[in-house]
Amino acid sequence: SPAKSWQARISEATDSIAQAFVESVSYDWRLYKQDVAGSICHAHMLSAVGLLPDEDREAIIGGLREIEAEIDRQKQNWPGFKPEFEDIHMCVEAELIKRVGEAGRKLHTGRSRNDQVATDLMLWTIFATKELGELYANVLKAFVAMADRSADIVMPSYTHLQRAQPIAAGAEVLAWTEALSRGYERLARFAANYEFPLGAGAIAGSSLPLDRKQTLWFAKRFGILAEDTNRLAMSSIDATATRDVAQEFVFGLAMISQTLSRWAEQWILYMSTEFGFIKIADRYTTSSSMMPQKRNPDMLELIRGRSANVYGDLFAMMTLLKGIPIGYNRDLQEDKRILFRAYDTVTQCLIMAAAIIDSASFDKSRIEPTLDRGFLDATSLAEYLVTQKVPFRTAHHIVGTLVATCEKSGRHALAQLKLEEINAVVASLQPGAALTDDVYTALGAANVVKRYQSTGAAGGKPFQEQLAAWKKRAGL
Ligand code: ARG
Repeated sequence: SPAKSWQARISEATDSIAQAFVESVSYDWRLYKQDVAGSICHAHMLSAVGLLPDEDREAIIGGLREIEAEIDRQKQNWPGFKPEFEDIHMCVEAELIKRVGEAGRKLHTGRSRNDQVATDLMLWTIFATKELGELYANVLKAFVAMADRSADIVMPSYTHLQRAQPIAAGAEVLAWTEALSRGYERLARFAANYEFPLGAGAIAGSSLPLDRKQTLWFAKRFGILAEDTNRLAMSSIDATATRDVAQEFVFGLAMISQTLSRWAEQWILYMSTEFGFIKIADRYTTSSSMMPQKRNPDMLELIRGRSANVYGDLFAMMTLLKGIPIGYNRDLQEDKRILFRAYDTVTQCLIMAAAIIDSASFDKSRIEPTLDRGFLDATSLAEYLVTQKVPFRTAHHIVGTLVATCEKSGRHALAQLKLEEINAVVASLQPGAALTDDVYTALGAANVVKRYQSTGAAGGKPFQEQLAAWKKRAGL
């Protein structure tokens, strides 16, 4: 009997160099659960439309379940993974036929590896999104716990890396929480929209009375897909030639990497002697082979650096697809190499990130002494003037003048100005206006942070609300 199920057409065995070159089972074995799940749905559909006797269906499903359980235990060492069968689909099918005989030879009815691999890929990506969700939950939890334990620390915020306005330190932590969670939600949204390709066959569908709606229905009934998501792919040609799933997934991963990279960069800066705002545990740092004093944030640097790989994966994926004529081409097999690589990189980064965040704290002793530098309260003073009926543009001008007054007279904070000095400038630019001592409640970083009122603001009640919402979401 021929070594491969399609050997009949080919006059000689595959060259050994070509065999090693074409095989993908060494990495696509990771699709085994999805391959089995898709096959089970397909078998149910075949029997529902009368193409597969019930006893054959049961033999197939029993055989597939056994195979799955064995691979669960042995992973890539499962003896059924043979490079001469090329890929996961052929390995599983060959083993099934070995085990259940004739019934197994009927499973591939109306199906091709082309719709099979597209299905496996879609199901794997949905599964991987869920897996990512668990790692994600740990990162979010770590961020939220940190925001919570830093809730009473006030720090400067920066635009252009120049001091901007004072904020609750926890609010900056929640900014990363927010950005990162959006990254996950994007993936989940993509996943809910992937179109189910099974039954599209090799390219043109089938002349057999397949009922693809039923296949999809079985996938939902067995909990492989969620009830209210994932429509049927409507063109058999497009369904087998398209890799939107892989592209969207890697794009989502690239955005997650980007957020992680920006966060890592932020903390690397904060860990410098110049800032000294954040401390992480020594176990997540390294020292220097030459400079004995060093404490380097290498793990954060690697999180930043690994984003380059994921961007590369996104570019590889898009380039892979740009020149492929419609219909399946073997180039498409490369999608999995790229997809798995990007996924593995991001999952490792998420695991590392959660551990680092868990160990991190703001260094109040370094942050507090500098809060009265950089006129962080200037905007607050301008807004205070607005409450005294001064138009904002005039208020902006008044405060700008007061900041210049401070600088000219060697004072570093607006609170150092006497009320008469403030009022002199106020009256010169807004005739008739005069402030009382109450103005000092709008000055000083700690005072300012308490005054924030707008939804989403980085202090005061709005911050407490964000924190409470996140604690609830994170189960803290
Ligand atoms: N291993 C292949 C892939 O991942 C499966 C599809 C192969 N189909 C074919 N007709 N050669 O893309």
